[in-house]
Amino acid sequence: TLQNPMSSFSKLDPSTRVAVIGAGSMGAGIAQLAAQAGHEVCLFDLAPGAAAKAIARIGADLDQAVQRGRLTVDERATVGSRLRATEQLAELAGCGLAVEAIVERLEPKQGLFRQLEELLGDEAVLATNTSSISITAIAFGLKRPARLVGWHFFNPATRMKLVEIIGGVETAPALVDAMRVLSLAWGKTPVDAPNAPGFIVNRVARPYYAEGFKLLAERVAEAPAIDRLLREAGGFAMGPFELTDLIGQDVNLSVTESVFQATGYDPRYAPNLIQQELVRAGRLGRKSGRGFYDHAKDAAAPVV
Ligand code: NAI
Repeated sequence: TLQNPMSSFSKLDPSTRVAVIGAGSMGAGIAQLAAQAGHEVCLFDLAPGAAAKAIARIGADLDQAVQRGRLTVDERATVGSRLRATEQLAELAGCGLAVEAIVERLEPKQGLFRQLEELLGDEAVLATNTSSISITAIAFGLKRPARLVGWHFFNPATRMKLVEIIGGVETAPALVDAMRVLSLAWGKTPVDAPNAPGFIVNRVARPYYAEGFKLLAERVAEAPAIDRLLREAGGFAMGPFELTDLIGQDVNLSVTESVFQATGYDPRYAPNLIQQELVRAGRLGRKSGRGFYDHAKDAAAPVV
């Protein structure tokens, strides 16, 4: 008998409970989006206190939306009440959609999805926000790899319209369709992307950052000058240094390494010493207070 492949998927509408795993920059933004779209959301992070802190940050963002007249006090309360933090993975049971936004490395992602598959049951949809890792590889070893899909948001997730939807070799085409519909319901602009290194946006963005880093290394110009030129004259929203400080130098280096490896060590994608040294020094950008710039200052001052 022919089976409708969607018949065994959780339906993806506001009644779907959403689990977000990883409460960093992206996980927090995705959790907020889900709550704003009407879902009950459970946010999990391995680091003690991280999920609760993320929910406090979301609360502050919602308060600001009220002050600016973009949200009523009642709406703010409703959205806030849909968000819950947990430090027990088991509490995610019952969620129909899990969105993963943990560290950008293959093995932890594979390990997490194997646990989630057991916990959430056969019908749950598993989505990864990976920036660069093969969806096929992340799904490898799952009992039901057809239910795993790439769902790549951009930073900040609440504001950036684009999402890339990426199917791996085993991903059910009907799931890609369903994610497109859900993305629209969340107010996003979905684009199908191939399961190629860096998908679309990160592939094009790599040389943008790399060339900036090379100019700095060669002392052609200082970071603020390069950023300003690209912003004010080049028409880019941000230059390579301020943008990688927003992304996180650690996350950006992981993406660089992953694309470098996946392209057969094409030298165009090689990591640069400057970004490696920043990560080694813990200068991760905005999230740690310092990266290329010192973000503690009113006007971010260059430190490199
Ligand atoms: P982040 O460093 O801000 O947060 C990652 C969080 O995951 C941390 O709170 C950490 O404690 C937690 N974590 C790590 N391993 C875990 C595990 N095994 N289980 C549960 N929690 C775990 O990272 P960010 O920037 O939020 O990135 C997360 C993912 O999203 C990465 O895959 C990254 O490539 C992707 N991404 C990042 C973007 C960016 O601009 N930063 C944009 C789009 C995607």
